[in-house]
Amino acid sequence: MWLHVDAAHGGSACLSSKYKHLVKGLDRADGIVWDAHKMMFVPALCAFVFYRNREHRFETFRQNAPYLFDPSAPGMAEYDSGLKTIECTKRAAAFGLWGVWSMFGRQLFADMVDVTFDLGRVFYEKLCEADDFEALHEPECNIVMFRYTPESLRDFTKEQIGDFQLEIRRQIIQSGEFYIVQNKSEGIGAVRVTIINPLTEASHLDALMETIRETGRRIIG
Ligand SMILES: Cc1ncc(COP(=O)(O)O)c(C=O)c1O
Repeated sequence: MWLHVDAAHGGSACLSSKYKHLVKGLDRADGIVWDAHKMMFVPALCAFVFYRNREHRFETFRQNAPYLFDPSAPGMAEYDSGLKTIECTKRAAAFGLWGVWSMFGRQLFADMVDVTFDLGRVFYEKLCEADDFEALHEPECNIVMFRYTPESLRDFTKEQIGDFQLEIRRQIIQSGEFYIVQNKSEGIGAVRVTIINPLTEASHLDALMETIRETGRRIIG
């Protein structure tokens, strides 16, 4: 049996001395997917698949195409990325990460994880301090799920409160001011932020909460 881990987002925590304990055990996986176009802030697409056993690279995407690959020279396969991906021709996407890493070093990426994870905590505290917001979990990283639940919703059913969150999200996205994501908690609609831009500041999060309030008030009328 294989253990594959979708560490597309969270895998970057490995680079942070402060937060790497959150992904303890990741080294025991047989396969890991990791996206530098998420927490590493490298332009998409820059995704990696790591295998514990390098031979598995070939088993995963085995293809039979004698006009492309030469089975009589297995050593040459090392040079052919077409054997290790679902695509054949592709751009060398890894250079996006290599370029930044070689210029600035690993610490830049560690800092990005620390800054955005820390800000997730700041946002959570802001939500807890506000009477009209409800944080739905204590965040471990830069993702925080919550609801806007002002006093004026007191006669709403749970489902209506969930739908209200989704309507707020739709309107905010259409306004172009912020991009937030919908989610569900215990089957009821909620919204979620992923703080991925290291230039995000606490004041942006205040502005987001204010925009949610204004949008919510407009919807309730
Ligand atoms: C854990 C995880 N896996 C996979 C994906 C899909 O990523 P992409 O659309 O970049 O392939 C996401 C997207 O946010 C994610 O958070």
